[in-house]
Amino acid sequence: MSESSVPSMMYSLQLNEFGPPSNLKYVEVKSPQLCSPYQVIVKVIAAGVNPVEYKIRSGKFPLVNVLLKFPAVLGTDFSGVIFAKGNNVTEFEIGDEVFGKIKNIYSGLGTYAQFVLVNVKNDAILKKPASITHQEAAGIGMAGLAAWSGLISYGDLKIDEEAKKLQQKVIIIGASGGVGTFAVQIAKNINNAHVTAICSGKNAELVIKLGADRVIDYTKEDFGEVLKEERESFDLVFDCIGGDEYYTKSISLLRIKGNFITSVGPNAYGSDTGTVDVMKVIAVTLGRKLFGVRNYKFISDLAVRDLPKFVTYMEKRQIATVIGHEFDLKDGVKAHEMSESHRVVGKIILNCPN
Ligand SMILES: NC(=O)c1ccc[n+]([C@@H]2O[C@H](COP(=O)([O-])OP(=O)(O)OC[C@H]3O[C@@H](n4cnc5c(N)ncnc54)[C@H](OP(=O)(O)O)[C@@H]3O)[C@@H](O)[C@H]2O)c1
Repeated sequence: MSESSVPSMMYSLQLNEFGPPSNLKYVEVKSPQLCSPYQVIVKVIAAGVNPVEYKIRSGKFPLVNVLLKFPAVLGTDFSGVIFAKGNNVTEFEIGDEVFGKIKNIYSGLGTYAQFVLVNVKNDAILKKPASITHQEAAGIGMAGLAAWSGLISYGDLKIDEEAKKLQQKVIIIGASGGVGTFAVQIAKNINNAHVTAICSGKNAELVIKLGADRVIDYTKEDFGEVLKEERESFDLVFDCIGGDEYYTKSISLLRIKGNFITSVGPNAYGSDTGTVDVMKVIAVTLGRKLFGVRNYKFISDLAVRDLPKFVTYMEKRQIATVIGHEFDLKDGVKAHEMSESHRVVGKIILNCPN
């Protein structure tokens, strides 16, 4: 194994029990050590914050009580520099700037830390292009891949040359958040779609700038009413908010065999998820899948294999990370309060100390 100077101790945001954001403690802990020849140790420069992490922190996420062991460090998305590598790692060298996403959201060995272990076979890790900052790269993992998966892998939207002639019609619900801001850009710049974005008025200008053709302010207008003349004309609804209301109102807008793709599912974004809710969600999801005349798909598997392709569009600036909020790692509590507020614009990024 080759190691440069990974210090024995590092700062991290540690969680010792489920609860409010203030349960995240900025403390010194032992740095990770290589324990497989396929691992690298990345010095994290920036980490992305995703809503799943506050859901896990609160203890109200499926299986979290069984799978997460304390003390735990949360976080899946990272960008940084390789400090050490196992003997079987051939595709990276010490000093390479890399970014990616840890696969296991329950590992408790997450990216809210100065150093993180990454398995080059199981986790997503790529060399970071010089044209993308560490903060932009740290924002890609979960949100960028959810947007790509929702529109392209699950949503069957065409890309590039194939897409140009089609002008597919897309609705993006929750267009101003982490997933939504990526989704608007993918739909417009890669699919050449006609994009209807749903977000509040204060974020309309941003979403139009990202490529939306029109914005419906959900705080003032009922989008089902606004779009009633366009029934059965949309190819895809991409829902980043969840709940029944958006589903019910969208379904008649889709053409027969159109796709309703959700990153959240029938439980509204922000609601608690107990065991009973999980059973209800499974039953509702199956019912919609089996008996609907439109396709209903819940994103359960992110298209990690398409990350290299995603990055080529970022290098061409056809997709960019919208960074709405930056915090130092020591202010992780504030980052989680922000995430839980549901008022995030684009991505929340944590900057790690040198
Ligand atoms: N299945 C998966 O693999 C997967 C992957 C990634 C994310 N997700 C889930 O997808 C959801 C979205 O993630 P995210 O990172 O985009 O979250 P986020 O960044 O926290 O989303 C915040 C945005 O949601 C908007 N919003 C809140 N309530 C709304 C409503 N009723 N209608 C329309 N917009 C509303 C807010 O806009 P306003 O302030 O304008 O209201 C805000 O800009 C989360 O629940 C996340 O856990 C799932």
